[in-house]
Amino acid sequence: MRRSYIAGNWKMNMTASEGVVLAKELVAAAAGCTAKVLIAPPFTTIPAVREVVKGTNIRIGAQNMSDSESGAHTGEISVLMLKDLGLDAVILGHSERRMIYGEKDAFINRKVKLALAHDLEVILCVGETLEEREAGTVEEVVKTQLVGGLEGLSKEDMKQVVIAYEPVWAIGTGKTATPEDADNVHAYIRAEIEKLFDKEAADDVIIQYGGSVKPGNVKELMAKENIDGALVGGASLKSELFIPIVTYDL
Ligand code: 13P
Repeated sequence: MRRSYIAGNWKMNMTASEGVVLAKELVAAAAGCTAKVLIAPPFTTIPAVREVVKGTNIRIGAQNMSDSESGAHTGEISVLMLKDLGLDAVILGHSERRMIYGEKDAFINRKVKLALAHDLEVILCVGETLEEREAGTVEEVVKTQLVGGLEGLSKEDMKQVVIAYEPVWAIGTGKTATPEDADNVHAYIRAEIEKLFDKEAADDVIIQYGGSVKPGNVKELMAKENIDGALVGGASLKSELFIPIVTYDL
C-alpha cells in the first residue's frame, strides 16, 4: 500500500519571515493528516522554516543542488550543505531547471546519484512540453527522462526515489491534465519502472502529479489508481490553498 505524499515547491518565493508564518499555519493544520508532507522552500528560507517544523510531521526538501560535492562552483549549493541543514529530500530535474537553465538528463542523473549516496530522498521530475504532447511523444519524452535520470540506480536506491510527473504545459497555467490523462501517464511510468527494475519497485514507487493542483481538483486526481501524491507550486504558497490539499482525505 503506497502512502500518499503531498509536497509544496515554493520555487523562488518566500523570504524567511514570510516562510515562518506559512510554516506555522501548516504545522497546526497538518498535525493529524495521513499523507506524508514536505515543503521545499528556497535555500535562504530553509533554516528558519526548519526551526518551525522541527519535531512535527512536516519534512523539508531543497529545490535543487549541485552535481558536485564541493569546490569551484560559484553560486551552487552542495549536497553536504543540504545534509548540514538536516534536510530530508531534494527535488531534481524540475522542468524550470531543464528549460530555463538547460539541465540535461545526464547532469540530473549525477545529482540523483550524489543525493542518494548522501541518503537524501530524491523527487525526480519528468514531463512533456505542449509541443511534445501535441506531437504525440509524451511517452517517448517521459521514458527518456526516466531512463536518463535513473541510470545506474539499483532497486534498493529506488526506495529513496519519488517520481513527479509534471506536464510543463500544466505548470502555473491553471490547466491541469485530466485525472484520466495523468493516470495514464503515471501507469506508463510505473510500467517503465518495472522494466528498469522489477514489479516490486514499480508497485512501491510513489508517483506525484504536479501542474495546477488546487483544493478543487486534488481529490479527483488522488482518487486515481496510479496517482500517489501531488507536487504543488502556486497553491503551496497560501495556507488557505495548501492546507485543504494536504488534508484532502480528512
Ligand atoms: P503549479 O502548481 O504552480 O502549477 O506548479 C507545479 C510545479 O511546478 C511544482 O513543482
